[in-house]
Amino acid sequence: MKPPAVSFVLVDGRRERHPVALGDTVLDCALDNGVAGLVGQCGGACNCSTCHCYVDSPWLERLPPMIDDERALLEYAWHRRHNSRLACQISMTPALDGIVVRMPERQT
Ligand code: FES
Repeated sequence: MKPPAVSFVLVDGRRERHPVALGDTVLDCALDNGVAGLVGQCGGACNCSTCHCYVDSPWLERLPPMIDDERALLEYAWHRRHNSRLACQISMTPALDGIVVRMPERQT
């Protein structure tokens, strides 16, 4: 079976699409492929907010609700929007195949 993929939209508008193993996070995918824009300073421990990103519909609605730590960290994210999430908290499932993730102009 083909692995799901993540489509990253970079700040300059370029797009990159990369496959990712089920259960890995969007941050894992970005770091494994050298995608610019996600830092992941805490290594995915939900402790820094440098993996802030914007998730397009309809994938946004397919994500599990935020845990309290994610919600609290996003309070400090630069230019938070209604579709802000932390990439380290998005674990890939078949329903998320093709998820479009946009980069903020900068991290915190
Ligand atoms: S990598 Fe630190 S919160 Fe996501």
